Amino acid sequence: MDTWNAVEDYYDGLLLGEDPALDAAREANAAAGLPPIDVSPAQGKMLHLLARAIGARRVLEVGTLGGYSTIWLARAVQPEGSVVTCELDPHHAAVARANLERAGLAETVDVRVGPALRTLEGLTGPFDLAFVDADKTSNAEYFAHAVRLSRPGGVIVVDNVVRGGRVVDADGDEAVAGTRRFAAALAAEERVDATVIQTVGSKGHDGFALAVVR
Ligand code: SAH
Ligand code: DHB
Ligand code: MG
Repeated sequence: MDTWNAVEDYYDGLLLGEDPALDAAREANAAAGLPPIDVSPAQGKMLHLLARAIGARRVLEVGTLGGYSTIWLARAVQPEGSVVTCELDPHHAAVARANLERAGLAETVDVRVGPALRTLEGLTGPFDLAFVDADKTSNAEYFAHAVRLSRPGGVIVVDNVVRGGRVVDADGDEAVAGTRRFAAALAAEERVDATVIQTVGSKGHDGFALAVVR
């Protein structure tokens, strides 16, 4: 763990400069009592670079929290693109809107409050990139919506698919069971090509799934 964090600090120090809007968002989240479960800075930048690499203009996010990952994604689609982000908790959504406003992204991001499944049912695509990072129990359903809403060649990233290795436990808790239902759906979904990458660092041992829609 010490080594993981030292390496993360080393590369963050080299590749991620000061960023007042992102730092302010993290501080506001902590002050508002939000759980510190945002993506790491390096992961946020990875999402940002992925979005830029595919020239994304419409991005979908499931699970906003305080909008930390949303800021990274929204910056990738500026100025003419847009992000729709789904958040259940009105308090989280309010903090996120303030963070996005401070980051100059209020016009770029549409924060939709309510159960993500309901929001997703009402959305029409196509989206270029989807980032799924809400409750893990519904990941199979979020993924199905992401596939439905994606353009051909669109990218879907699903966070937290390893969770300290607990994903291999067939008798795990609800979140593990949800992740495994998602994993089965990912494997069975013929419209995508996919891989899973394990990660270590400040978020412990975890990983993300990456899928490209055919
Ligand atoms: N993507 C964020 C972190 C999201 S944390 C970042 O990296 O900055 C997960 C979020 O999903 C929490 O804010 C939680 O309230 C939200 N969430 C949980 N269940 C949800 C649901 N059913 N619909 C929408 N959001 C949900
Ligand atoms: C948790 C959720 C996340 O999305 C994450 O990246 C890390 C932890 C959690 O619910 O504990
Ligand atoms: Mg996550």
